[in-house]
Amino acid sequence: MSLPVLKVEGLDKSYPGVHALDHVDLDLYEMEVHGLLGENGAGKSTFMKILSGSVLKDGGRIFIHGQEVNIANPQHARQLGIGMVYQELSLIPELTVAENIFLGRWPRRKIFGGIDWPQLVARAKDALDKLGVSINVKERVSNLGIGERQLTEIARAISMNVKIILFDEPSSALSDEERERFFYMIHALKETGVSIIYVSHRLSEAPRVCDRVTVLRDGKKIDTLPMDRADEETLIRMMVGRDVGEKFPKDETKEGKEVLRVKDLTIYGRLHHLELTLHQGEILGIFGLMGAGRTEFARALFGIDRIDEGKIFIEGRRVGISSPKDAIEAGLGYLTEDKLDGLLMQMTIPPNITLPSLRRFCKFGFIKHNDEKETAKGYIEDLGIHTPRVAQKIEFLSGGNQQKVALAKWLCSQSKILILDEPTRGIDVGSKIEVYRLINELSKGGAGIILISSELPEVLNMADRILVMSDGSFVAAYNRGEASQEDLLRSVVAKK
Ligand SMILES: Nc1ncnc2c1ncn2[C@@H]1O[C@H](COP(=O)(O)OP(=O)(O)OP(=O)(O)O)[C@@H](O)[C@H]1O
Ligand SMILES: [Mg+2]
Repeated sequence: MSLPVLKVEGLDKSYPGVHALDHVDLDLYEMEVHGLLGENGAGKSTFMKILSGSVLKDGGRIFIHGQEVNIANPQHARQLGIGMVYQELSLIPELTVAENIFLGRWPRRKIFGGIDWPQLVARAKDALDKLGVSINVKERVSNLGIGERQLTEIARAISMNVKIILFDEPSSALSDEERERFFYMIHALKETGVSIIYVSHRLSEAPRVCDRVTVLRDGKKIDTLPMDRADEETLIRMMVGRDVGEKFPKDETKEGKEVLRVKDLTIYGRLHHLELTLHQGEILGIFGLMGAGRTEFARALFGIDRIDEGKIFIEGRRVGISSPKDAIEAGLGYLTEDKLDGLLMQMTIPPNITLPSLRRFCKFGFIKHNDEKETAKGYIEDLGIHTPRVAQKIEFLSGGNQQKVALAKWLCSQSKILILDEPTRGIDVGSKIEVYRLINELSKGGAGIILISSELPEVLNMADRILVMSDGSFVAAYNRGEASQEDLLRSVVAKK
């Protein structure tokens, strides 16, 4: 084989209490897509951030085309031909899509040196066209959905004309169709000689895009394998260090009284006459493609967006919900699609978990810090939150572990009705199973759960009943075991 484009030797990085990378070796060849896999907190993002210049290494050597380099900062990385798509999106919400794509590289006019806006817009359009997406480049990023933000971020990396692109979970929020186009884009990039390191928790993606995979566990490299020798079971065993057993541990549920009834919920032009009932102990899956209106429905139910028509009944009583505060008081909990939305990054794990249920942790107006800490400890164990201490600040946790904290917060809230929007996105395979176990426990405890998911196996295996959503309407309903993957997909497209 030829000389690797990138060679990493003994890369090492420690944080207080964590050996994030323990002498990791990796090489990357021209036109190679190299998967980087591992559990939440295994060190994947740290590895990539060192290569992209946003984190400094403690030790080890990095060679580009055989030349040793000392990557000092992101600009330097870019000069060396390395670009990165970050896991925690790094766009500036107040700026437009075009401004974000060319951030720090806005084209200048020849005369007077002002910013050449028409050219900026044209080039941004071009970058998105290459991905086959139509997002208005003059739109502010704050108005975009999470999938569109991810596409903008990808377009930015691709437009940099770099030789090595590091993708840190680039596709987690994309629709199936967008993901297909993105894979196609990856193949096209490869053809032009670009090399890629690719991080994803969707193991099924790896054979679609990767030539080889490297697995990290607790900061150590376990092995590098060619893709054709790395089936899913092998990868899971390498990642987790053991067999994980049943992937969807669904318990029988005992359905109780009705907890929620939604009648004729409408937001003009977006949600059309939505009706549903939810019982105690029931897990109601809502399946649909990205943009079907599932998140909008959840937001409306939780009082974030105003509804134009419709009635909501909780335990038979009509309730008016016009803010999240009303919703929480009425017994609702909502784990948002963008999990990091509701986290206080500068604060530690325990207050983040107890936030919506603070009343339970107060006595005479004082917070019972010990109880709070014990509760947090329980969730850290149950969900396998990878942290050197209970009182760790959220900002220092890996992306997936931050998401687990967001999930723990709502699991702990004792809500009567819990809306979970893509609860396992970005969470590693072993921990997913723990999440399902906790969802089971909550439903056994009498909570009604609305499980919004675009993962077919997840809804099919975990839900007692499934509603299919398309274009802002519920278009089909199935009981557990009644529908196959094909049925659900067919219902989604039938309406269009
Ligand atoms: N700035 C930081 N300060 C302290 N610890 C950190 C910091 N960044 C990362 N860590 C720790 O280093 C370890 C590796 O984190 P990293 O983000 O690389 O994991 P990851 O493999 O990307 O996980 P995920 O799948 O959740 O994204 C984790 O234990 C994390 O808590
Ligand atoms: Mg990460």
